[in-house]
Amino acid sequence: MICIGLEGTAEKTGVGIVDSEGNILALQGRALLPDKGGIHPREAAEHHAENLVPLIKKSLEEANLKPEDLDMVAFARGPGLGPALRTVATAARSLALSLDVPIVGVNHCIGHIEIGRLTTGCQDPLTLYVSGGNTQVTAFDSGRYQIFGETLDIAIGNCLDQFARTVGLGHPGGPRVEELALASDNYLKLPYTVKGMDLSFSGLLTAAIRKYESGAALEDVCYSLQETTFAMLVEVTERALAHSKKSEVLLVGGVAANQRLREMLEVMTQEHYADFFMPEMKYCGDNGAMNAWLGLLMYRHAKNLNMADTHVIQRYRTDQVDVPWMEKSAR
Ligand code: ATP
Ligand code: FE2
Repeated sequence: MICIGLEGTAEKTGVGIVDSEGNILALQGRALLPDKGGIHPREAAEHHAENLVPLIKKSLEEANLKPEDLDMVAFARGPGLGPALRTVATAARSLALSLDVPIVGVNHCIGHIEIGRLTTGCQDPLTLYVSGGNTQVTAFDSGRYQIFGETLDIAIGNCLDQFARTVGLGHPGGPRVEELALASDNYLKLPYTVKGMDLSFSGLLTAAIRKYESGAALEDVCYSLQETTFAMLVEVTERALAHSKKSEVLLVGGVAANQRLREMLEVMTQEHYADFFMPEMKYCGDNGAMNAWLGLLMYRHAKNLNMADTHVIQRYRTDQVDVPWMEKSAR
């Protein structure tokens, strides 16, 4: 069975084609990069509307397939930006109708976990998912990916992006902050906010901006921002690892590009005699292949899956979805 997956929960339009053995036959994507300011949901939707058809064509070319070779369509129902989700859902429905094939709507966060398992070979990981829109620590338990910890306000990537934008570094901020942080080892105290198992970044963001505005060197603030936020992420991941007793840690999402975060997480993982996994960057950020693969898993295991049920869910939580395929993998 060959599945085409569409992705457009935020500003990246992605299309991927995957077969039932987990071979990734095509991977195409295009990100919306605004000159300044953040991402407007309507602009993201327009970006998807413009790019989906060309990316679908390119994916078919890459996989050397014809539209009739596709056996199903998958897309992310959420979580994400409403107008963006609706545009992609409409495209997915039209494609499935015109090809007369089944359609499956998937959860974006679970897509990240599943493409991570597929491409790294880890089995039953504790996952840290860090991106512009999400910050979540999850692990399989009792039939679902349970959320062990998450952000109470903004995501880590958004925190880095907002900081970078405010101090004039442009968008996306994560890579610029990482670069500048390398030039410092002068730690300035910033509020460390872990509440129970959850994280909060907005007060810390304001404090970092104030530090810069009151004259601190930008390199020092970037360094301190990374050290503080990453220590918070590693602490919550470490406690979830101890609690869940998993033996694998999987890092996914766009912020996984950060070398310092990887290093800190790897050290913690080794201290717990667990194995550390991270997909190649092209599978770490948002992409269409993750939805295609998750769609295939869901379709294969679906008993009561209603194929007509393709409405979008803006606040679609990871723990809302049954994951029957994990019953066998989990140790
Ligand atoms: P999602 O829809 O899953 O929330 P997204 O739209 O944020 O995803 P991603 O590509 O997963 O897209 O992540 C982009 C985020 O990753 C941005 O916030 C960006 O600043 C951050 N990022 C990219 N490279 C780095 C880096 N080297 N260090 C830290 N953050 C980074
Ligand atoms: Fe994502």
